[in-house]
Amino acid sequence: MSQIDTTTANAEATEEFTGTVLDDVAGFIMTLLSAIGERHGLFRALADGPASSAELAERTGTDERYVREWLRAMAAAEYVVHDRSNGSYTLPAAHAGVLADENSPYFFGGPFQMVFGYLGIVERVAAAFREGGGAPQSAYGPDLWEGMARFTNGWFEHLLLADWLPAVPGVRRKLEQGARLADVGCGAGTGLIRLAREFPHARLTGYDVSPEQLELARTGIAQAGLADRVELRLADVSQGLSERYDVVTTFDVVHDAVDPLGLMRGIRAALEDDGSYLMLEIKSADDPADNVGVLPQFLYGASIFYCMTTSLARGGAGLGTCGMPEAKVRELGAQAGFDSVAVAPITENPFNVLYELRP
Ligand SMILES: C[S@@+](CC[C@H](N)C(=O)[O-])C[C@H]1O[C@@H](n2cnc3c(N)ncnc32)[C@H](O)[C@@H]1O
Repeated sequence: MSQIDTTTANAEATEEFTGTVLDDVAGFIMTLLSAIGERHGLFRALADGPASSAELAERTGTDERYVREWLRAMAAAEYVVHDRSNGSYTLPAAHAGVLADENSPYFFGGPFQMVFGYLGIVERVAAAFREGGGAPQSAYGPDLWEGMARFTNGWFEHLLLADWLPAVPGVRRKLEQGARLADVGCGAGTGLIRLAREFPHARLTGYDVSPEQLELARTGIAQAGLADRVELRLADVSQGLSERYDVVTTFDVVHDAVDPLGLMRGIRAALEDDGSYLMLEIKSADDPADNVGVLPQFLYGASIFYCMTTSLARGGAGLGTCGMPEAKVRELGAQAGFDSVAVAPITENPFNVLYELRP
C-alpha cells in the first residue's frame, strides 16, 4: 500500500476537519441512543415530568443502570437538562415536540424507528458496494415501514389539507364533488385516511407494490373505521392501474420506483383527460453538486439505505432520494405524455416540492 503524504496539510484545517468528523461520529451515536430511547418510551415518559434515572426506569419498565448512562449521554448532548441539586432530568418543552410528541410537525420518532430498519440491512448494503444490486423491500423489517409511516404522518397531518390542497384548488373542488382518486405507493395509508375524512364523497383507492406496506394500510384504515370507503390494491403500477381516475397522487414514490417512467406512463394512461396528477417529490437541486449541507447528507444516506438500493435490487433505475429534481420531473413528465408540469405554490419547506401534472 502506498504511503499517504500528509506533509502538505494545513494543521489548522486538519484539526477543524477532525472536529467535523468527531461531531458526526457523536451524532451517529446519539441517533442510535435516541432510537433505543424512543423504542422504550424514555422521551415520552420524561415529557410527563422531571425524573431521576430510577424514576424514569420505573415509569418505563427499563433497567436503571442503562437508563442512568443514557440520561448522562442525553444531558451531555443537551437533549435533556440535569439538575445537580436533586439529580433529576428534564425534557425541555421546546425539545418535547421533536422527541416525544407523536403529533408534532417536528417529531423525529419515525426516523429514529427507521434506524432499526436500516441496521438490519447494513451488511447487505456494504456487500452491494462491491457486488452491485441492493436490498429488496422484503429484506426490511416492520420498523422501517412503521417508522416511515410515522415520519410522513406529520406531513399528512399538518400539510396535506392545510397547505398542499389549497395550492391546487381545482383538485380540492373535484374531491368535494366525489372524484375518484388513486394514491399510488400509498404505503401505510395515512394520506388516504386524511383524504377520506376530509372528502366523504370521494372514492379512494390505494395502490402499493409492497405487501408489508399494504398490510399496515389495511390495519390503519380499518382502525380508522374507513374500510368501506377506501379500497386497497396490491399492484406494481408501472404495469398500469385497473381503473381510470380524476386525481392520482404519489407522495414520495417516483424516485424510489424500479421503473419511474413506466410508473408515470401507467398513471398517465389511467388519468381522465381533465384529470390531475399530484406528485410530491423530494426537494433537490438539478445538479447534485448543489446538494450540500445537513439535509442532503441525510437524504443521500436514506438513498443508500433504502431509496436507491431497493430500486437497484430489482435491476431498476435507482434514481435515489435526490434523483427527481425539477428538471427530471419535467423530462419524465413529457416522456410519459403529460402536456403540463407545474410547481404548485405550497409554502416553502425544506423537504418537498409538489407538482401538478396534467394530460
Ligand atoms: C417512500 S414510500 C412512501 C409511502 C407513502 N406514500 C408515504 O408518503 O408515507 C414509497 C412507496 O411507494 C411504493 N411503490 C414504489 N414503486 C411502486 C410501484 N411501481 N407500484 C406501486 N407502489 C410502488 C413502495 O412500496 C412504498 O410503499
